[in-house]
Amino acid sequence: MKILVINGPNINMLGLREPDIYGRETYETLLVKIEKWAKELGCEVECFQSNHEGDIVDKIQASYGKFDGIVINPAAYTHTSVAILDALKAVAVPAVEVHISDVTQREDFRQISYAGMACCEHIIGKGTDGYRLAMEFLCKM
Ligand code: DQA
Repeated sequence: MKILVINGPNINMLGLREPDIYGRETYETLLVKIEKWAKELGCEVECFQSNHEGDIVDKIQASYGKFDGIVINPAAYTHTSVAILDALKAVAVPAVEVHISDVTQREDFRQISYAGMACCEHIIGKGTDGYRLAMEFLCKM
């Protein structure tokens, strides 16, 4: 089982960024945890982060035939990007949407998730543990 974990814009700023919303754990710490969880679950994992929508689309396209599942937190692009939605639909690799914060309780503009429309599971508001839950979900599929 090979899982690709994709994080969108500003997720690399975890720890510094609005800690009341996203916590104090850094992106580097999250990467270490994801590697540890992959070992525990017996799967392979690759992590990718970009602040650029096109780079995320390219990475999703490149996942075709290489990965069995995608964990994706498209961050702000969640609420704007039809291109990421279309890329996920194009490759049809099973994908799980993750949000660290509980977007359902936040601003109106966060209530739509385009990428989520192509995902088979949604893990929202569980902090960074959400990535582990998403990986577990894919491994059980
Ligand atoms: C987020 C929620 C998004 O609305 C926001 O733009 C982010 C992070 C989350 O993980 O809670 O950057 O995806």
